[in-house]
Amino acid sequence: MQSIENGNALNGAGTQTFVPKIVAFCCNWCSYAGADLAGSSRLAYPASVKIIRVPCSCRVNPTFVLKAFQQGADGVILCGCHPGDCHYVTGNYYTRRRMALLFSFLDYLGIERDRMRVEWVSAAEGARFSQVMNDFVSKVTALGENRKIADIRCKGASGGEDVAGGNNDD
Ligand code: FES
Repeated sequence: MQSIENGNALNGAGTQTFVPKIVAFCCNWCSYAGADLAGSSRLAYPASVKIIRVPCSCRVNPTFVLKAFQQGADGVILCGCHPGDCHYVTGNYYTRRRMALLFSFLDYLGIERDRMRVEWVSAAEGARFSQVMNDFVSKVTALGENRKIADIRCKGASGGEDVAGGNNDD
């Protein structure tokens, strides 16, 4: 049995195992519905994946990804409709171009590529959603904690607890 301390799991021996914080941006029309289908089909994916629903994958400005890393995310995944299936026709084509540039920028910042992923998941692909999330989380777990551009002011005194929503100015 595991308990959770500072966002990390304690195993039976009382030592902490790293549980990565994952931010998943999912477009409303395909990937979010895919996540829903995974849930209703009882296909598991890690609870550390926090989904942010967006109207379309192109709503995700690359600065959102950088901000997530800055505020303590260990991995960020962006999921949208398959190319050609975007509800807004061309949204995911813009996403694809922007994210290609973002990957170059992440290289420049020294953030490992495996911490960021773009996937196309349709509303009918609940099993794929679950498989993609499990695979992504295991890759990020292997990389360990993201310290590259993490803002230490977003960490609690214990070093692991998020206090980003609070007022840290004093
Ligand atoms: Fe899904 Fe545009 S609506 S990517």
